[in-house]
Amino acid sequence: MLEKLKEISDAVSERLSAVASLAELSDLKVRYLGKNGEITALLKGLKNCSSEERPVVGKRINDLRQAVEKMLAEKEEKFAAFLKEKKLKEEEIDITLSLPDKNACGSLHPLTLAKNELIQAFTGMGFSVMEGVEVEEDYYNFQLLNIPADHPARDMQDTFYITDSILLRTQTSAVQARTMLTQKPPIRIICPGKVYRADDDATHSPMFHQMEGLVVDKNINICDLKGCLDEFARNFFGADTKTRLRPSFFPFTEPSMEMDVSCFMCHGKGCRLCKGTGWIEVLGAGIVNPVVLQNCGIDPNEYSGFAFGIGIERCAMLKYGIPDIRILFENDLRFLRQYK
Ligand code: DAH
Repeated sequence: MLEKLKEISDAVSERLSAVASLAELSDLKVRYLGKNGEITALLKGLKNCSSEERPVVGKRINDLRQAVEKMLAEKEEKFAAFLKEKKLKEEEIDITLSLPDKNACGSLHPLTLAKNELIQAFTGMGFSVMEGVEVEEDYYNFQLLNIPADHPARDMQDTFYITDSILLRTQTSAVQARTMLTQKPPIRIICPGKVYRADDDATHSPMFHQMEGLVVDKNINICDLKGCLDEFARNFFGADTKTRLRPSFFPFTEPSMEMDVSCFMCHGKGCRLCKGTGWIEVLGAGIVNPVVLQNCGIDPNEYSGFAFGIGIERCAMLKYGIPDIRILFENDLRFLRQYK
């Protein structure tokens, strides 16, 4: 009997060291201490012992039972502690991590912001907004604007042709022609939109945005043009902005000019932005060429007009200090988030 007890004790400690889960531990408990367990069976067998043997053997069995109970309890405790530790590790929260911003909301692209401000500056002066088409006819983009097929001015704009007579518009000026053909003066419109040219570097993109402006009425002259564009410049670039007009050439205006604004970074002293000149070129403009009025069915003896074309990327780059036009189209969120 005593041998049997030793056997059981050894077997329990050996099995216990191999136990790998709570389920296995519970099986072991049933196997030795359960109703039909091995130690329980020994206790039941006590009745077969002689009355002298019984108290000694009974005590040994009870000792074994208590020892096994203790071993099982210790193992169970170890398991519980291990599982608790494991659970804590798995559920560990890194309080130094920033949570995703659940309330994050989008914002307008800097080009859209600049476009909206440009529109606001002109609608405030009574201009209405027109839309044209991006896939345009050579006729509206060039011919009606006094740029015939063999005109050298076509070289100023590297054009994407779709067929001989259909192209991606190179300038929003095409909308001038479409408007004059369908509306009677007085005309006072702006047209913001995409234009396309085969150009690609730090200051040119094959797709970019312009805003065209056109005013046609009786007795329109350069003073009207200057007054209107001065007002725009003060509104968009700041109240103390000065402007100057320089002679230039566009086939659809005569005379033609470019407008510079005083550098709003250095206020005319000269800096990197204005390349030391104190002035920044912002747009092309002029008095509508009478040939264009005539082409579009408006009598140049009765009406005159002025027109201008503004580069929207250029305005956004100047206003927001963006050094490279390509950044505007990469849409890196770290860049875009600055313009909330
Ligand atoms: N279309 C010209 C360009 O893309 C800009 C321009 C200049 C538009 C003078 C005009 C204008 O309406 O009068 O370079």
